[in-house]
Formats: sequence, structure tokens, C-alpha cells
Amino acid sequence: MLKLPGLIDPHVHLREPGAIHKEDWDTGTCAALAGGVTMVLAMPNTQPPIFDEETLDIALGAAHQQARCDYAQYLGAGPDNADIVPALAHKAAGLKMYLDSTFGELRLDDMTLWKPHFEKYPMEYPIVVHAESRSMAAAILFSAMYDRPVHIAHISLKEEVLLIKAAKERGIKVTCEVCPHHLFLTSPLHKGEGPGVRAESPSPTPPLFSEKMGEDVRRTGGGRSEVRPRLATQKDVDALWENLNVIDCFATDHAPHTIEEKDSANPPPGFPGLETLLPLLLTAVAGRRLNLDDIIQKSVINPRRIFNLSEQPETWIEVDENAKFEIKAQNQFTRCGWTPFEGWKVKGKVRKVVLRGKTAFEDGKILVEKGYGQNVRA
Ligand code: DOR
Ligand code: ZN
Repeated sequence: MLKLPGLIDPHVHLREPGAIHKEDWDTGTCAALAGGVTMVLAMPNTQPPIFDEETLDIALGAAHQQARCDYAQYLGAGPDNADIVPALAHKAAGLKMYLDSTFGELRLDDMTLWKPHFEKYPMEYPIVVHAESRSMAAAILFSAMYDRPVHIAHISLKEEVLLIKAAKERGIKVTCEVCPHHLFLTSPLHKGEGPGVRAESPSPTPPLFSEKMGEDVRRTGGGRSEVRPRLATQKDVDALWENLNVIDCFATDHAPHTIEEKDSANPPPGFPGLETLLPLLLTAVAGRRLNLDDIIQKSVINPRRIFNLSEQPETWIEVDENAKFEIKAQNQFTRCGWTPFEGWKVKGKVRKVVLRGKTAFEDGKILVEKGYGQNVRA
């Protein structure tokens, strides 16, 4: 049995308040524990979005009642809350700025709206940006101009990882994360829309996996492959793997939408990911694409440093490195009822999770009550 520190996922969507038919603080944090994740940082694009004291307290109230693992909640940057969010920074995971369109209403189109947030949000708390392709270049320019750390969410393209590499080499305070779906899946569709074109790549991602790879996403195409940033090409996926040393964190962007919503005429973008993160990474370790130290660095040490998080005492996970199993949505705790990795054969199963001295998960069962999770910014 392999013993690792509890993982930190700096990017999850738990849907409460507002869309608890997809997920809530209970089901989402059960999924986290089952995946070996003992701390989650929750995104603000809920309904209502989390953008002031009142909405922050709504989210934190729900989390206080229901969370089973430790957590913090992000604030969302809006067009007119730059003056009020700095005073809430100590209570929040960080400030999330949506610079490209995605699920939910939070979005800052105009660069004049970015400026007051960069000027006023306290330096010691992180700013995280959803910024793809050329918006990412603009976000990095802001980081340089204001000489402040900026963390770039879910990078997916070769041009992006190379840009971040160049920015880091010049001393710009930029960090970034990558999601398993951008490391293990390619676009199933001919799309080629807009800048940062994602052309077709027919081949399944790394030869590490068999023909089963991505079958669910490929078979269903359409709604089940919708995610922002979009799945990219094999060339992009290869560039991410080749430049893993540039990438600071693994993050799931766990974004549950129900299977009915995903298969509907108007599918929302997003994949669940908390329960598949570690098995996928450990399978990559078995395939020698990664080593265990990469997992510890990018899922524990770096997130702690970047997001200014304390160590969780008496917290660890036990993993059976050699246990092979097939990923099945029916075995997951997430409420959304599907996974883009359905049917994948992976190696590495979470057996036990100990959180602050208490066994929180063991052999498929959650053993801590709702409300056991603590707000790490409290
Ligand atoms: O695919 C995505 N889904 N990307 C995002 O940025 C948001 C997320 C969601 O909230 O569903
Ligand atoms: Zn997200």
C-alpha cells in the first residue's frame, strides 16, 4: 500500500447554491474523498454567483453544513465588485476572473474591467484566471504590469504551455494547472472554430491506454465532449506532456452536469473529474509518463504554496498501486451520473483516506459525517 499526502484540488465546481441536481457540497466532497482529495477550492460560478459578502456567506453556510472534506470558496470578479472583494479576500480561496466565456454569467469582456481587480485584490491571495489562447497572453501582460502572481486555470494548448514557459523564464509571476481530460483526451470532432483552433485529431491520446480510451466521449461526441477549454489535438496533448515541468498543478475542473443535460440539444460544457484524477495519474506513473514525486509536487506541495494553504495535520491517503479496475459512473459519488472515462481500465485504487486523524473513506465507503470538512480560510 502506497501512502501519499491528501491531495489538494484547486479547481472544482460544486454547484451549490443553485444547481444541486448536478452536485452539492455533500456529494461533491464525497467524490473528493473517494478520489483521495482532502481539500477542494470551489469556483464561484454558481447561481447566484459568489461575488459579495452575502453570496459568499450563502456558499460558506452550505459548505459548513455539508462538506466532508476541507475546502475554501472562491470569489468571482464582476464588472462592479472590485472595491468590495478585497475586504473579503481573507475569507476566500482567491479571486476567479473569467476572461473568456464559459458556463454561468461571470465574465469580464472588457480589459478596462480587469484593471481595478489587479490593482486592488491583496497580493497575498491568489488571482486565478480562465484565459485561453490570446486572452492568456493578455492576462500574463497584466501579471507583468502589476508584478503580481497570477494562476492560469486549465491550460490545454501547445501555444499556451510554451507561452507560460517563456513568461516564467522572464521572471513573470505566472503559475498554471492542467486537467486530466486535457492530458488524456483529444477532440473527437472536426471543429476548428476561432482563434486557438482545435482541429480534428482522430487518434486516441497517449498510447498508454488501449482502444477503450475515450470511447465514451468519442462514441457520444456532441454534448459529452463539450468542455471549456475544449479538448484539443494530439499535438497539443503531446506538448503538455513534454512540458510537464512548466505546469505547477494538477486540477480536475470537476464540472458536473447531469447525463440528461449533457445529452440534450443544448449541452453545458464540463466533465466530472474528482474520482478519476488519481487513478489516471497513477496509470500514467505505471506507464512511466510521470512519477510519484510529480503527483506530490503538483497535487500537494505547489497548490499549498500558490494558494497559501496550511498543511492538513494527520492527513494521508493509502493507495493500492497495483489494483486494476474499470472506471464506471455507477460506482461514483458525484451526482451527475456519468464520466468521460467510462470503461477505461486503470491501475491504482484509493483504499483509505485519513483526514485530520479520522478515517474519512475506506474501501468504497464514506466514514465521516456531513459538516466534518473545515473551511481552511476560517
Ligand atoms: O467546461 C467547463 N465547465 N469549463 C468552465 O470553465 C466552467 C465549467 C462549469 O462550471 O460547468
Ligand atoms: Zn472551472
